[in-house]
Amino acid sequence: MSHFRPVALEHASRLINHGPTVLVTSADGDRRNIMAAAWSMPVEFTPPRIAIVIDKNTFTRELMLPSGRFAVCIPGAAIIDLTYAVGSVSGKDIDKFTRFGIASTVGPELGLPLVEAGCSAWMECKLIREPHTEEAYDTCFGEVVAAAADERVFAGGRWKFDDTNVDLHTIHHLGGGNFAKVSNLVAAKAL
Ligand SMILES: Cc1cc2nc3c(=O)[nH]c(=O)nc-3n(C[C@H](O)[C@H](O)[C@H](O)COP(=O)(O)O)c2cc1C
Repeated sequence: MSHFRPVALEHASRLINHGPTVLVTSADGDRRNIMAAAWSMPVEFTPPRIAIVIDKNTFTRELMLPSGRFAVCIPGAAIIDLTYAVGSVSGKDIDKFTRFGIASTVGPELGLPLVEAGCSAWMECKLIREPHTEEAYDTCFGEVVAAAADERVFAGGRWKFDDTNVDLHTIHHLGGGNFAKVSNLVAAKAL
């Protein structure tokens, strides 16, 4: 049974507000791909827009540009090794879904391959064409048109990291294949 539930688009920014490493999925015709990306962030609440750095030499860019779409899946701590693996080899040479046995579902709005097993959330995005930033800074922009999250770890528009859902805690790349897992929630008090 899937624990994924739709996330209201006005809450989509919260999925990556804290800077998790993500999996970027893409598809064009019968070609599909998945890569790791540590550099993404929200840039607008409404409509929900995000920015993500996708190197121009990646296969992902080759699929994103003509298809005008990409998805962001947020891996949990249980799939750190898989996240590192799909960020260490290019889909130009292999189908990473097959090579690493990655199950995917079909996105509701854009038909993108989405990973739910081991992930805590996903977002489907329409690529917003900005040729200058794409070329000069490898920075691509997207509008989130659908989002969902595992209700065991994200509900009511909030992350709920605790001891019951550690496998779904988001991961944060420190460099060189080393990651930190998100830890306890701390609410700021009014001063
Ligand atoms: C943890 C991790 C984070 C990464 N972050 C980024 C990133 O933010 N942007 C990027 O362009 N590449 C990043 N990479 C590298 C790509 O994932 C890598 O080049 C990948 O092989 C590209 O796959 P593709 O050619 O199949 O698209 C990262 C790799 C790892 C392991």
